[in-house]
Amino acid sequence: MPRAASPPASITYSRYLRLDTLLDCQQLQSVKVRKPAHDEMLFIITHQTYELWFKQILHELDAVLAIMGQPVVPERELGQVLRYLERIAAIQRVLVEQIGILESMTPLDFLDFRDLLAPSSGFQSVQFRHIENRLGLQRTRRVGYNAMSYESALPSDARRRVKAMENRPSLFSLIEQWLARMPFLRFRDYDFWQAYRHNVQAMLAKDRAAIEHNAMLSAQAKTIQLGELDKTRENFETVFDATRYQALVDGGQRRLSYAAFVSALMIHLYRDEPMFHTPFRVLTALVAIDEDLSLWRYRHALMVNRMIGSKIGTGGSSGQEYLQRTVEAHRIFTDYFNLSTYLVPRSMLPVLPEALQRELGFHWHD
Ligand code: HEM
Repeated sequence: MPRAASPPASITYSRYLRLDTLLDCQQLQSVKVRKPAHDEMLFIITHQTYELWFKQILHELDAVLAIMGQPVVPERELGQVLRYLERIAAIQRVLVEQIGILESMTPLDFLDFRDLLAPSSGFQSVQFRHIENRLGLQRTRRVGYNAMSYESALPSDARRRVKAMENRPSLFSLIEQWLARMPFLRFRDYDFWQAYRHNVQAMLAKDRAAIEHNAMLSAQAKTIQLGELDKTRENFETVFDATRYQALVDGGQRRLSYAAFVSALMIHLYRDEPMFHTPFRVLTALVAIDEDLSLWRYRHALMVNRMIGSKIGTGGSSGQEYLQRTVEAHRIFTDYFNLSTYLVPRSMLPVLPEALQRELGFHWHD
């Protein structure tokens, strides 16, 4: 006869959360060398809190990658992707805010224990590197320092895992492939791209005529304004021509494939169509995540400047100078920010054929 399962040890708040272990993890170096520094507790807890949130972000990202990595992404799972991405952005806002708590430590207080930390540094945060790689930060874009690769600062097993992740599909590449597979760009004999191009050209011709016939403008002002308009037209021309667009990709000015770019633009322009509601919010969430990560990088760099001035970091980098450069260089989803360049007012949008509108809508009212 099978033995009855023994009753589970009663779960308590403390046991469930493993608080004994968790609350034993704050070991102050300054106490160990018998020169207790009051603010070291804050320093440790702040970093540990970050690492816990990083763990949660990775948990969300892995779920998103699993859904988006399917050959066909089931539409009913897209809502989950959106919720996880929006949760990541919500966590990031807390991460940016948290810097303010650490800034309640003054530079002089920090000096009480800073020397005890070398050569450790946030540069060795394995989870931070996993987040960057899962999002899709490319090795070639990384700001180098001391001619060292970013992963050389990590222990060898972590180094292997971080490098392996670089070769797995990232959020950037999976979203790109999903966009490139999007139907609707061509629907029966309707070609969205042709219709959009036609309307953009009409819009630019109207703008040109408005400048040329504006009696309030001097000849010089007209020349300047027409010159600006030519730049706008040129900008549009590069995206109407797949070969010219590819040249931008090859030159590193764009990252998104042409097919994905056109789909993303269509989603933005027609985001009021029910079928595009969630895709639009997914793309918006990517922009928010990228923006929040840049904000964190910027706030962290400012805090570092405030704490250590222009000293080098404990990890050996040029400190604040290196960090400032990463703010711009390590952005991942800039292509989605730049889509706004190609938006046109709703009044200039090609009207979609009725049959296509029906495909993009809800049918319950039929
Ligand atoms: C007094 C507070 C802090 C100072 C002075 C500081 C300083 C620095 C410096 C100088 C670097 C550049 C690498 C180096 O040479 O060490 C760095 C990198 C880094 N720090 Fe901090 N940091 C502080 C707080 C934090 C906190 C609270 C976190 C949260 C996890 C953090 C995470 C990171 C990360 C992830 C990097 C790598 C950034 C990258 O390579 O893009 N730091 N930190």
